[in-house]
Amino acid sequence: MSIISTDIAKAVELLAADELVAIPTETVYGLAGNAFSEQAIRKIFEMKKRPFFNPLIVHIASPDRLEEIARTVPEKAQLLANAFWPGPLTLVLPKKDSVPDIVTAGKPTVAIRVPKHPVTLDLLGKLSFPVAAPSANPFGSISPTTAQHVAGYFADTLKMVLDGGACTKGIESTIVGFENSTPVVYRLGSVTLEEIESVTGPISLLNKKDEAPDAPGMLSRHYAPSTPTVLAESIDEAIAMHPGKRIGVISIGPGNFFSGITSHIILSETGDLREAAARLYAAMHELDEMNLDVIIAQRFPDEGIGRSLNDRLQRAAKGD
Ligand code: TXA
Ligand code: MG
Repeated sequence: MSIISTDIAKAVELLAADELVAIPTETVYGLAGNAFSEQAIRKIFEMKKRPFFNPLIVHIASPDRLEEIARTVPEKAQLLANAFWPGPLTLVLPKKDSVPDIVTAGKPTVAIRVPKHPVTLDLLGKLSFPVAAPSANPFGSISPTTAQHVAGYFADTLKMVLDGGACTKGIESTIVGFENSTPVVYRLGSVTLEEIESVTGPISLLNKKDEAPDAPGMLSRHYAPSTPTVLAESIDEAIAMHPGKRIGVISIGPGNFFSGITSHIILSETGDLREAAARLYAAMHELDEMNLDVIIAQRFPDEGIGRSLNDRLQRAAKGD
């Protein structure tokens, strides 16, 4: 029997019993457990094979629930919450003692967001606790953007995937922390740097070499297909460098044509970067199942959501 279901009451029951349920969000599917239950959180780390030093994001039903888990809220954090919640923005704030240390990997801060998905908002409204949920993939592999992707990873260990259809954003939330009340971007994602800056004024991106300990989502070789992946300025040149190989291409569109390749996915027929973002992970999943020798992905223009997409692709390409 499939673990995929739309039964919200059953999801409530499982979560209240410290079991895990994969939940839909607008970014990617999350692997959720009661954020106040150490036992449930332990199951998340075990199922994902995620190192305990990598903290989780806590999902709340509405911005009014913030006080239950955050000790203080800097003014700019409040402005960002007002502007983007519900939505794909995660705020890292000083935590209350009610949040178990295992959720935050022992840090004094907790990552929080209000997801924008009707099914999950309905679910969260029916729970007496928030849920901690990392992306619902084994540590290091591609994030899931459909219930089927999640079932492909965890059919043997997970009791339920709450089906909310394909994720509309398709790229993880943008994570913003505060250093001396000054906002800092820890991870680029669905909300662009430009959008954040329109609320906060100029903001810094956490320096690459500093960010691993603080936001391990930034570790190299994250978000990776098992097929070697190349991020290319010129797809034609990248193809020429792999003679006789089974090549899969992911291009942005519109109207690209390449010969001598095995498979080609065009992310947006109109070249729309938001549409491309929503389809990127599904394209990586699909090509990863074709026994290709190499996946060549086109580099995006380095602005707006393109910058977040390049960040993910760079991580997918690292180490090959
Ligand atoms: O869109 C998303 O953010 C999805 C959906 C399910 O909400 N979740 C997600 O979770 O991407 P995950 O676990 O794959 O990534 C969470 C990131 C990690 O890179 C982690 O290091 C960072 O959040 N993080 C969590 N708590 C933190 C904290 N206290 N300080 C700094 N970074 C933190
Ligand atoms: Mg993840």
